[in-house]
Amino acid sequence: MLCGTFTPIFCCGFLQYIKYCYEIAPHLDAKYTRKSFLLNDAVLPKRKTAALCGCFFMRVRTRGFDGGARICYTGTIQIREARDMQAKRVWAMYWSATDTTKRVVTAIAGQAAQALGVPLAEYDFTLPVARQGAPEFTADDLVVFGTPTYAGRVPNVLLKYLATVKGDGAAAVPIVTFGNRAFDDSLIELRDILSDNGFVPFAAAAFVGEHSFSTTLAAGRPDADDLALAMQFGRNIAARAAAVTAETPVIDVPGRARDERTYYQPRDRAGNPADIRKVKPKTNDACDDCGLCAKLCPMGSIDPADVRNYIGICIKCGACIKKCPKGAKFYDDPGYLYHKTELEEGYKRRAAVSLFL
Ligand SMILES: Cc1cc2nc3c(=O)[nH]c(=O)nc-3n(C[C@H](O)[C@H](O)[C@H](O)COP(=O)(O)O)c2cc1C
Ligand code: SF4
Ligand code: SF4
Repeated sequence: MLCGTFTPIFCCGFLQYIKYCYEIAPHLDAKYTRKSFLLNDAVLPKRKTAALCGCFFMRVRTRGFDGGARICYTGTIQIREARDMQAKRVWAMYWSATDTTKRVVTAIAGQAAQALGVPLAEYDFTLPVARQGAPEFTADDLVVFGTPTYAGRVPNVLLKYLATVKGDGAAAVPIVTFGNRAFDDSLIELRDILSDNGFVPFAAAAFVGEHSFSTTLAAGRPDADDLALAMQFGRNIAARAAAVTAETPVIDVPGRARDERTYYQPRDRAGNPADIRKVKPKTNDACDDCGLCAKLCPMGSIDPADVRNYIGICIKCGACIKKCPKGAKFYDDPGYLYHKTELEEGYKRRAAVSLFL
């Protein structure tokens, strides 16, 4: 039975190796002078995918090239240089409705760029317009990539967009923030997303940010101590970045396996699951129709013609509530308010920052 299962896999792998020797290697040799070449340039015009199967990693050494070819379950083939990474640019890339993730990610990336003596670039994909595109990364980039934790995971409204952000061998540092409860599976999920998309996640961290629902839960975080940790972490990843290669294993972080991950479920007073998905903020008479909330809603859900009207979903990100200059947006839904109070009462202790390097 076992033999029956493994024989085709072994044969398939062997055939791919033969295919590599006869079809791929000569092209690599011919093209070795181009530092950034990938297999798609050499053999598979326009596409990085090949109708290959099997899964194994092989070391590729040809004249002037020392790298790795990984043929994945999905039938994709990725070839990356295994030389030490020379970061030529550091990126701060983040989604951040109430700016806590932005503050952490820019502190880390800023220090990393300074330590490496390279430029810092920023890509903020909080607003819908920014999610119509993404930077084109290369193996010369070091990307500090942040999202908050929502219900113990990467916010699910971002998943479709995140699948479009390709790493092409860039070194990456996944960062999540969380509002003093727990980051559960968000960091491992973000790490996996980046790794699946061709990044090399070699370090990671979870920082605490003031909870989106509250002004007392983790109030003011990231604070000066958190930012000092973030900056030190930035210098540490810069020191490590030079040793990152295509073969660097993904950083080990806590969290459940992909098929075991669930979303954190708020409960009502009776302990039953509370569904607050349809809850939207109300607007009081202090509103002077300045229109700011409509401009900054990450879902584009506030009608610019009438800010009391919603034209899309509300993810309870807190941006319109916390950033309204008049304090005019508020929630009055009992389920939402109960959940907020429960969190504020239950998580008073100072949650720790977790660093993985
Ligand atoms: C819908 C929603 C769900 C959240 N779920 C969690 C959670 O599971 N654990 C936690 O500690 N914080 C949770 N938070 C809090 C945010 O992770 C935290 O406030 C974060 O710092 C916000 O990031 P931002 O300022 O970049 O938007 C949640 C916030 C929202 C809006
Ligand atoms: S930001 Fe505040 S004051 Fe301005 S339109 Fe929105 S609710 Fe009204
Ligand atoms: S309407 Fe909802 S999604 Fe939009 S900014 Fe306000 S809290 Fe965030």
